[in-house]
Amino acid sequence: MTDGEREAVGGSAASEGDPQAAIDARGARRREEPDGRIFERAAGDRQEGIPFVGAGPGDPGLLTVTGRELLEEADLVVHAGSLVNSELLDAYCDRAELVNSVGKDLEELIPLMRNAYEDGEAVVRLHSGDPSIYGAALEQMDALEHEGVPTYFVPGVTAAFAASATLRTQLTLNEVANHVAFTRPQGKTLTEEEDHVSDFVGMGDVTTCVYLGTHAVRDTMERLLDDGHDPDVPVAVVYHASWPDEDVLVGTIGTIADRVEEAGYRASALVVVGDAVTGSGYERSFLYGDWANRGSRNADRTEAGDD
Ligand SMILES: C[S@@+](CC[C@H](N)C(=O)[O-])C[C@H]1O[C@@H](n2cnc3c(N)ncnc32)[C@H](O)[C@@H]1O
Repeated sequence: MTDGEREAVGGSAASEGDPQAAIDARGARRREEPDGRIFERAAGDRQEGIPFVGAGPGDPGLLTVTGRELLEEADLVVHAGSLVNSELLDAYCDRAELVNSVGKDLEELIPLMRNAYEDGEAVVRLHSGDPSIYGAALEQMDALEHEGVPTYFVPGVTAAFAASATLRTQLTLNEVANHVAFTRPQGKTLTEEEDHVSDFVGMGDVTTCVYLGTHAVRDTMERLLDDGHDPDVPVAVVYHASWPDEDVLVGTIGTIADRVEEAGYRASALVVVGDAVTGSGYERSFLYGDWANRGSRNADRTEAGDD
């Protein structure tokens, strides 16, 4: 264990068992001083503790090598239920006990993982896509760390990246989309004021990736129309990107809701709004244009290359 790990993982008996108290305590500590592990560990490092692994979008081939190794070595895998393709569990979790986290609250999940870890088991918490996007991972990690169990992230391929691969386009595209928004629509979690889908679409050069909004495509599109957005803005809905039953619906702000309703999808799709959806109308980039021929004479070449 590094100094940062020793310092960061300090159990506190006072609020043990109360996840919100643990979240508040960990947050307060982070605000005062960054977690030492940030400076000692890199994202791909195997670390002490329970890894929170991104399973990727579904296809077992889109799991990272580290994620696969951790699953193959695991004794207990707590996974995100139907959001994780069972083919991936069948392929890589031969020896592990599998527990579906759906329907379990923190009060149940934390002791389950902590007890197994303290009994010396290799525990993996498996989230869909990347755990940092609508994953509710940090609260589990905080609750575990508060009780003295170290944790760390192992990133995964988020649904938006699988959807862009399926659509054979880029989320950023020269002269079409300079920005990407990962967002979700209003509903149980977000109020009307917290819903920014329309703001992102209104910016024009943003590819707006709407998670957790399959059931609300019509409402979302109607709000966009009410806000005066062009009904012809392209929209794609990618259901189960990278799964065997993947399906792609393409349309516009004005037409996509009918297509989603005809197909009957209520969950598990990513809604992508913006001109980049069609992969058309873009200009060649500087990277393989003028910049390419200027070589080291151009001090900004590296930065341009990132484009
Ligand atoms: C709770 S969020 C989890 C997101 C996940 N952490 C990620 O990075 O992709 C679940 C939402 O992600 C989207 N999603 C997850 N996997 C998907 C896939 N394979 N294809 C399309 N959308 C997906 C859907 O919008 C779904 O409602």
